[in-house]
Amino acid sequence: MYWMKRTKIISFRLPLIVCLLTCGLLYCFSYLIESSFEKFSIQQNVSELNSVISSIERELIYFSPNDNRDELFQNILLILTGHHHLFVYIIDESGKILYRTRGPNLAVALKPANLEKIIAQHGTTISNLNKSSYRIAASRVIVENNKQYTTIVAVGRDLQLEFISRLRSGLGLLIAISCVLALIGSFISIYFTQKPINRLIKKIERINLKSLNYRIPTSSVPTKYISLVRAFNKMLTRMEDVFQRQRNFTADIAHEMRTPITNLTTQTQIVLNSARSTEEYREILYSNLEEYEKMSQMISDMLFLAQADNHQLVPNLIDIDLFNMLTMMCDYFEPLTDEKNITLNLEGNCSHIQGDKLMLGRAISNILSNAIRYTPQNEVITITLSQTSEKRVKIVIANPGKKIASRHLPHLFDRFYRVDESRHRNGNDTSGAGIGLAIVKSIIQTHKGTISVESDDKSTRFIINLPTAI
Ligand SMILES: Nc1ncnc2c1ncn2[C@@H]1O[C@H](COP(=O)(O)OP(=O)(O)OP(=O)(O)O)[C@@H](O)[C@H]1O
Ligand SMILES: [Mg+2]
Repeated sequence: MYWMKRTKIISFRLPLIVCLLTCGLLYCFSYLIESSFEKFSIQQNVSELNSVISSIERELIYFSPNDNRDELFQNILLILTGHHHLFVYIIDESGKILYRTRGPNLAVALKPANLEKIIAQHGTTISNLNKSSYRIAASRVIVENNKQYTTIVAVGRDLQLEFISRLRSGLGLLIAISCVLALIGSFISIYFTQKPINRLIKKIERINLKSLNYRIPTSSVPTKYISLVRAFNKMLTRMEDVFQRQRNFTADIAHEMRTPITNLTTQTQIVLNSARSTEEYREILYSNLEEYEKMSQMISDMLFLAQADNHQLVPNLIDIDLFNMLTMMCDYFEPLTDEKNITLNLEGNCSHIQGDKLMLGRAISNILSNAIRYTPQNEVITITLSQTSEKRVKIVIANPGKKIASRHLPHLFDRFYRVDESRHRNGNDTSGAGIGLAIVKSIIQTHKGTISVESDDKSTRFIINLPTAI
């Protein structure tokens, strides 16, 4: 649910981000165009105004009040030829108009203070008159007899302003259309990218406990998702394996518990069928006790494994002399080995390690009891101790006997796994429940070590690697 919601949010968020980015980029672009055009038109206006003013001033310098004004006007008209929307206003020191073009009254457009400022700074100003906008420049020239002429020149900005406003609305429209297109484009591309994923999701959603054997065909997905599908299929295989083992595990527990209970029930029924002597009752109770002990052992083994699964096994770490410990264990197994005339040969040495003595003892005795069980009479079991590095030690327990087929080796440490698949037990059956090696593995893992097994025609070898300190 959460994932679906998230996907929806992402599929909306992405087009929005694309749209905003497009919008932002185009806005910056438009701003750049508009401001460049504005700068360009200001420069153009200013240079036009300055050129006209300096040409007029040149004429005024050579103009004497006694001269014919017509000639001056002719020359000014010549100067103004080719300039559109340009207005000139020339006044003398008394404010009398010497010359003016038709158009706005520039003397009204400029306040005296403003006029003086422009003259002093050689600048320009913008003035709005009769709904029209003008850029105005002014200059003053002193001619003979201390006569002063002030030239005010204005150029109309209306066309430029209109162009800028059209440019602005055109660019605005372009931004709007681009944003909508970007939005639609990203929605379409997301839809097509999402489509195979949605199909994949539907297939995955259909997988349940009963169809764990289903594998998604890689041919049905686009190339870029093939590795994802392969990884998912591999995960399914692992899950199927775990579920299968879980099912077997439950069935195995039930089976292992049922056998002693059936034995106990049958025996009790037989005993109750007729009167028995005290000696007979004692014998039967001893036999029952054996079954009770087996069940109790199995339950405590299961509890141990459950604790290991929940990471509740906390080793009681002490300094252990492995050679010493193994020597004691060999002595402990002597009665068993003597029965089959088997020799336990302990070789090599290593430094002390830190570990839980009880747990490690249990692990090694499980391996040794298996080894003794599967070693033919009059043979030798070898235990080799070695220091593989400063911080690691190795214990190899090798026993001669029938080779374990390689297909069994990866499962040997699984719970209830036995090479002999027949679960039929009779009084002569010496094999156990198949959890001894699972316990060994848990103990070694709790000690941050590793365990592996090798088997060939000569021997079966259990190899334990342990760190000297956890
Ligand atoms: N040294 C060995 N040589 C040959 N086969 C072995 C050896 N050790 C273990 N196996 C095989 O591995 C299986 C699993 O061993 P494991 O110790 O887990 O169970 P078990 O001995 O059958 O029962 P349990 O230890 O619970 O009493 C055994 O049933 C046996 O088939
Ligand atoms: Mg065993």
